[in-house]
Amino acid sequence: MVARLLLRWRVLRFLVRARGVVSWSEARPLLKLCLSRLWLRDRSGVGGTQEVGSHNGNSPPVLFQMATGYWLSQAVYVAAKLGLADLLKDGPRACHELAAVTGTDPRCLFRLMRALSAARIFLHTQGDHFALASVGKSLQSDAPGSQRAIIMTLGEVHYQAWGNLLHSVRTGCTGFASTFGTSLFAYLQGSPEAADTFNTGMSDVASILAYAVLLAYDFSRISFLVDVGGGQGTFLSTILQLHPEMKGTVFDLPSTIEQAKQRSHWHPCGSRIAAIGGDFFHSVPEGADAYVLCGVIHDWDDDPAVQILRNCRLAMNQDGRLLLVEVVVPDHDAYCFSKLLDLNMLVMTGGRERTRAEFAALLNAYGFNAGSCYRRDADPACSRRGRWLFLRLDSAVPTQALSQDFVHRG
Ligand SMILES: C[S@@+](CC[C@H](N)C(=O)[O-])C[C@H]1O[C@@H](n2cnc3c(N)ncnc32)[C@H](O)[C@@H]1O
Repeated sequence: MVARLLLRWRVLRFLVRARGVVSWSEARPLLKLCLSRLWLRDRSGVGGTQEVGSHNGNSPPVLFQMATGYWLSQAVYVAAKLGLADLLKDGPRACHELAAVTGTDPRCLFRLMRALSAARIFLHTQGDHFALASVGKSLQSDAPGSQRAIIMTLGEVHYQAWGNLLHSVRTGCTGFASTFGTSLFAYLQGSPEAADTFNTGMSDVASILAYAVLLAYDFSRISFLVDVGGGQGTFLSTILQLHPEMKGTVFDLPSTIEQAKQRSHWHPCGSRIAAIGGDFFHSVPEGADAYVLCGVIHDWDDDPAVQILRNCRLAMNQDGRLLLVEVVVPDHDAYCFSKLLDLNMLVMTGGRERTRAEFAALLNAYGFNAGSCYRRDADPACSRRGRWLFLRLDSAVPTQALSQDFVHRG
């Protein structure tokens, strides 16, 4: 690294001195070398991953790729919104045909699909024909582990709110409120279409998480489980389908529960599953022997988070358990997705991702004994009565494999 910097500095110094002394034909190769070294350095990408399109050495520097990351994220969003992956489910199709179905301009759609083929989401097969590449399969609405709805939410409400990250960093207030004039959950209650996309996206993520949690934790000793902030109930119904002796209640805001009741994915659980609308800052349903909070505590800063925990503590049996499913911010400085997710919480809800020590402080303050942190592949036998269980899910969960291995078991 130092040697490279020295070399670059020497070349630049040479060029400055040589100006007017050497001829252009002598200086040209040196200038070329100097520029190529500046341009081609450090191509490892964020988190050590290889950046899209880097295989031919023609990609811009990593910093520039980071700054233009939203070009790609918006392109992926548009593909999700137009439902292109669903249209390519049965094989390659001509772009002008796709344009007619989606009501888009054929030449502009071609440019979108060409760019996304370079990103290996589609495959440019021949002429103006495109097919679905394996990464793009998760953009299909009904694919196991579908990411279509969550990508649509990210490309719409999140994208607009993130435009105010600077405001959040300056003031500590959410970018969301400064964009939409209200909080995320209040906005969703008044916008049924946005709420449907958001809740479906959360549900898709929850179905994958549920399988990861099932691998990590033995639910066989739990007879009654309440999923607090459980959205459309996908997480709970997945657990219940694999534990036919258990019953459960999904608890969420009344408007979310109304939407959830219209979906059919609970049917296999029959009367074992109930749904209650309410406000977890006020109270949560009583009497269960376990309460799960999956991706809920990270939505809130410490004071409101403590209030939710306090209400769970008040509602649960003496030997009750609290199951938290959250990511953990590691103490080391290396790249980790949880650190970006933390910024997302700052922008969207005013919440935060926490380190293990921060979780321990929060939980111990509210009557939960110091607990254990299990990875999803941890020994499932080590649950502890009366303690909080933390399922650390920031390790790479192979979502495709999980969804395909387990989705048919229920
Ligand atoms: C990030 S989502 C969690 C996803 C959810 N666990 C799932 O499995 O899909 C947060 C959830 O908290 C719910 N929520 C927000 N404020 C609430 C409140 N005051 N009372 C009850 N639920 C609330 C939201 O409606 C949303 O479903």
